[in-house]
This record gives sequence, structure tokens and C-alpha cells, in this order.
Amino acid sequence: MSAIGHIRRISVPEIAARKGGDKIVCLTAYNAAMAKILDPFVDLLIVGDSLGMVLYGFETTLPVTLDMMILHGSAVVRGSDHACVVVDLPFASYQQSPRAAFKAAARVMAETGCSAVKLEGGVEMAETVAFLVARGIPVMAHVGLQPQSVMKTGGYRARGKTDKEVARVLADARTIADAGAFALVIEGTIESVARRVTEEIVVPTIGIGASPACDGQVLVTEDLIGFTQGVVPRFVKRYADIGREIAAAAESFARDVREGKFPEPGHCYGSGKDTSAPLRKSAARRAGGNEP
Ligand code: KIV
Repeated sequence: MSAIGHIRRISVPEIAARKGGDKIVCLTAYNAAMAKILDPFVDLLIVGDSLGMVLYGFETTLPVTLDMMILHGSAVVRGSDHACVVVDLPFASYQQSPRAAFKAAARVMAETGCSAVKLEGGVEMAETVAFLVARGIPVMAHVGLQPQSVMKTGGYRARGKTDKEVARVLADARTIADAGAFALVIEGTIESVARRVTEEIVVPTIGIGASPACDGQVLVTEDLIGFTQGVVPRFVKRYADIGREIAAAAESFARDVREGKFPEPGHCYGSGKDTSAPLRKSAARRAGGNEP
């Protein structure tokens, strides 16, 4: 709490200090409305580039642009005041050089007001992470399954099943933590490897499909609430079936409209039975007047 009693946002050092302590609770958010709902319950909101697949219907995260991340990131910051907000750097915005990464990350930080950026990669990104951190940009890393590299690695399968993969995930995690990342997401990685990483590195690990051994857990919110289409990964636990609720609401609305049952008198202006809430600003604008 600040001196004036407002709830203060959880900071990057506070997340880093949770290593080995209370589990870090993290969900993805892509817009202000969802951020507002999730904010009281989580420590971290990640504006993931998974939005390209979940919201925009792309087959991979590769088409997501920096401008998209900035638009969605700033919405999530506006919709929250408690969680630490981390925004993904999208494909091709940071891999070319540390200087390119700084330019992209600085835009994200300045234009969204988020607390940190996240990027995928381990050993090959260590120089970039050190470059960003030295210049005041907190970085969360993302190792194990790295969705921006699926074209190279050949798909979304779990990592750590061969000795070579185990060595790779461990080297990535150690190197990127040594380079200054304050936490790392470890995705799609078998339990024994996630456990070793969590035991060996000094910063928190946040698992997604990487077992309970991690210091925290993250899921894509739309997966958790049943809002995503198609195959859901094995590591997802569904806590709600919002997709079904939306379909039922749409079906009822369609029936009411077709049968002339909507709108009812109470939904109409000038009917003398106006019991509805006042117009929201946007609706008032659309209605073109000051009508209450
Ligand atoms: O893109 C994303 O949503 C992510 C989360 C799974 C952490 O990287």
C-alpha cells in the first residue's frame, strides 16, 4: 500500500524475491476488460504473443507485430493496478541484435507502461538480455518449448526427452539467468528437467506444461476458461466453459430477435418504461445525444 492507500502494483524485484517462496500466480491477458477481471487474483499478467493465435486466428505466433503487442499491452496496463505486467517481444523484433532488441523493448516499456518485457531464447539471447538489463529494461526469459522457433524445431512437442534436449534446456536456463533475467517461463518441459532448472537457478521459474516443480504457474486464460477453439494442450486444466455460455447467450438472443421478443419496452427509449442503466459514454455517442 502506498501512503495514500492505493493498491500498489507488484514490482519486478518483488517477483524475483519470490524464488522458493509463495508460488507465483500468473495468467495471460490481452485486453483491459480481461485484465480487470484477473488482476485481483494474480501476481503477474503476461501479455503473450499467443494473442496472435488465440485472438487473431494465426497458426503460429510469428505474424504478431510490435504495434499489436503495444496496443494490447497498453490496454492490459490500463485495465490493471495490482499485477506486475510483462509484455512479450514478438518475433523479429529482438533477435537481430541487442540494439534492435533495445529499440523494440524501449518502445514497449514507454508506450505501454508495463513493468518488463519477455523474450524467447537462452544461450543465444544472453548477450541481448545483459544489454537490455544494463540499460534499465527488466527481462523475463522463456526457455524450453519456444513457440517463435517452431518452424526450426518442428512443432509443439515437449522438451527434455533426450540427453541433448536436457543439456540444452539447462544451459539456456542457467545462461539466461546469469545474464540478468529476473524470472523465466519454462514451457512444455518434462518434470525432471523443470525441477532441475528450478533447483539450480537463482531466479523464479514459471511453468506452463512444466510440472508443479516450478516457482509459479501460468496458463493462457482463454484455455483455462474454455474460450479457445480446437485441440487444447494436455497441461491445460479447464476451470470454466465460457465458450458454451457465449454460444447459449447468442442462441437465446437470436431466438428472441427472430420471435420479436427483443427488445422489450424496458430496453426502449421514450417508452415511459425506461428502467435500464444510463448509456455508457460510447453508447451515448453512438446514440448521438445526451439522452440518459
Ligand atoms: O505467449 C504467451 O502467451 C506466453 C505465455 C504462455 C507465458 O508466452
